Formats: sequence, C-alpha cells, structure tokens
Amino acid sequence: MTTNQVLVRQLDTIDIGTVTAIDEKITGSYHPEEWERRIGYYLRRDPDAALVAVIDGEVVGFMLGEVRSGEFGLMEPTGWIEVLGVDPDHQGSSIGRRLAESLLEHFKSRGAVKVRTLVDEGMGDIAGFFESLGFEPAPLRPFVKLL
Ligand SMILES: CC(C)(COP(=O)(O)OP(=O)(O)OC[C@H]1O[C@@H](n2cnc3c(N)ncnc32)[C@H](O)[C@@H]1OP(=O)(O)O)[C@@H](O)C(=O)NCCC(=O)NCCS
Repeated sequence: MTTNQVLVRQLDTIDIGTVTAIDEKITGSYHPEEWERRIGYYLRRDPDAALVAVIDGEVVGFMLGEVRSGEFGLMEPTGWIEVLGVDPDHQGSSIGRRLAESLLEHFKSRGAVKVRTLVDEGMGDIAGFFESLGFEPAPLRPFVKLL
C-alpha cells in the first residue's frame, strides 16, 4: 500500500458504523450508542475537526478534536486531538500521520498556536505515535480522584 492512495475527508454521520467497527477491532468492545453520541458531539462542535481516512472508498481511520482556549488556565487557542483510531489491518501505513497532518492544518486555520493531547501511560503505543509526529511531554499534570 502507498500513502497516496489515502484520502482524508470530513467525517459524515454515515461513517459512524464503520468508526464503531474500527474501535471494536482495536479494543474488542462494541459501543454503538457511545460512538453515535461522541461523534454527534464533535460534529456539532467543529465538523472540520472530525476526519476520516479513506482507501478505495473504505474508511480505515478516524481522528476527532477541536480548538479550545481558556480551559485549564491555558489561554492560548489550543488544538486538542482527543479521539483517534486506525484499523489494525492498515496500521503502520502512515494513515495516522496523514490524519494528524490534516487536523493540525485545520487547527492552524482556526488560529491555534499549539496542539495538545493526553495519553494514558498504559497506552504506550499511542505515545510513540505522537512522539514520531514531534509531540513532546508537556508540564501539565492530570489529577484524578475516585468517586
Ligand atoms: C496510534 C495509531 C493511531 C497510529 O496510526 P498508524 O496509521 O499506525 O501510524 P502511522 O503509520 O501514521 O505512523 C506515524 C508514525 O508514528 C509511529 N508509530 C505508529 N505507531 C507506533 C507505535 N505503536 N509505537 C511507536 N511509534 C509508532 C510510526 O513509526 C511513524 O513514525 P515515522 O513516520 O517516523 O516512521 C494506531 O496505531 C491506533 O489506532 N492505535 C490504537 C488507538 C487507540 O487505542 N484508540 C483508542 C483511544 S482514543
């Protein structure tokens, strides 16, 4: 497979089933209602920041984010990459990179000066992906408390 076969376009509601299936392949869990709700949220917030990668008409990856400012005391407009997944059958073919490049271009066009994401330390493979894209650890500590 070559990367020039990959098309990145805006996610459409008709893609929800395929995104749900890709997530199921990655995680082993099937959550259609969750994806319907989650994708609806991103499409309402900023449809241009909800992207899918397509090869030969088939959706093989997705990336969702948005530009925010003011959260967590971070005043500068910041693009957040929040949800992503590439079909395991297509991983390692620069699809994630293509999705990120498109999303970062969009963030810049919306005035973002930085892009951030959060990676759970238990998801080491995603950290490696972001490091390859030039992301560095940030001095922003998450805090959590059981409820
Ligand atoms: C992380 C993920 C998006 C990467 O997508 P991908 O299409 O396989 O990645 P790419 O082929 O575009 O790789 C881009 C770069 O990241 C690196 N990379 C990708 N996966 C990596 C890994 N597991 N470890 C280290 N580096 C990795 C590649 O080596 C490549 O670097 P290079 O361009 O310098 O050679 C994909 O593996 C995935 O969907 N993982 C599961 C995500 C998940 O769990 N989502 C649910 C929570 S939101």
